[in-house]
Amino acid sequence: MRALRVHELGAPPRLDEVPVPEPGEGEVLVRLEATVIGHHDLGVAAGVLPVFQPLPYVPGLEGAGRTVDDDTPVRVFGGGLGSTRPGTWAEYVVAPAAAVTPVPGSLPPALAAACGSSANTAWAALHDAGAIGDGESVGVTGATGAVGSLVVQLAGGHRVVAWTRSPKRVQARAEVLRDDEDPAEPVDLLIDTVGGPLLPRRLRSVRAGGRAVLLGYTAGERVELELPALMHGDVSLLPLNMRRRRVPPEVTAQLLDDFAAGRLTVAIDVVGVDELNERIGRLKAGRATGRLVLAW
Ligand SMILES: NC(=O)c1ccc[n+]([C@@H]2O[C@H](COP(=O)([O-])OP(=O)(O)OC[C@H]3O[C@@H](n4cnc5c(N)ncnc54)[C@H](OP(=O)(O)O)[C@@H]3O)[C@@H](O)[C@H]2O)c1
Repeated sequence: MRALRVHELGAPPRLDEVPVPEPGEGEVLVRLEATVIGHHDLGVAAGVLPVFQPLPYVPGLEGAGRTVDDDTPVRVFGGGLGSTRPGTWAEYVVAPAAAVTPVPGSLPPALAAACGSSANTAWAALHDAGAIGDGESVGVTGATGAVGSLVVQLAGGHRVVAWTRSPKRVQARAEVLRDDEDPAEPVDLLIDTVGGPLLPRRLRSVRAGGRAVLLGYTAGERVELELPALMHGDVSLLPLNMRRRRVPPEVTAQLLDDFAAGRLTVAIDVVGVDELNERIGRLKAGRATGRLVLAW
């Protein structure tokens, strides 16, 4: 089978021919039709996040395809894929059974691959870490990104403030602001997907005693906070790590149904192997125009 393998941390992956892996007890062999190339994978491949396999290794936390055993459409996600065991940047993957979820047959593989973790993250940011209450307002940064756009969609019914560099690409109902603009009224809950130097100003857009869920750092990994301002604002900072959160299976199933029925959507950029390295460059530079999906 073809597999994209990282031979050296920080270097582009190489397309190699390797044997199809054999499933063991409690594992499932999946023929992948679509593979997500995500920020997490790039962090592992760059050596920023840990990889627990010898080099060369196959990255990839998520993808979608069909089980080899009985041709069921599934998505695969988590279970150490791409960090403690070979991942989804390949035509086949062996995944722990718990990392394999059946998906509606009407969901195209590229969307099945791309939607799940972003939607689960958006849901967990709103309802688990953020514990949004009735009548509360929510602000989200990176509002046209995968997670950000799903926060905007899932927060329908609340007042939503959406910060973005690309206002025309925000499609759901929201007060749309550029990163250097402040809202007329502060929000109760901030969901920050960009981090970096933008965060201190965003925290000033949260009401005193409000909450800020911090889940991404596409605008920068470091933040400088003035402690007096932080204490004055009294905003609770709530980091979110999806590896430690469990979204109820019935919520995940409902979210997948919503994608299949067109009630939720996420932008995807489907590419072949030849275009991949150029698109990875765009993703790293913050110029992606949708979740990057490799079609095999
Ligand atoms: N903590 C967790 O467990 C967890 C789970 C999932 C994702 N994440 C993280 O969440 C972040 C977002 O993920 P994603 O899948 O939504 O990524 P994405 O689809 O690439 O979206 C990122 C968005 O961030 C904004 N952005 C990018 N570079 C920027 C910059 N230099 N300055 C300002 N805004 C910038 C852009 O939105 P606009 O064009 O709208 O401004 C972009 O669309 C990533 O850092 C990812 O690693 C974390």
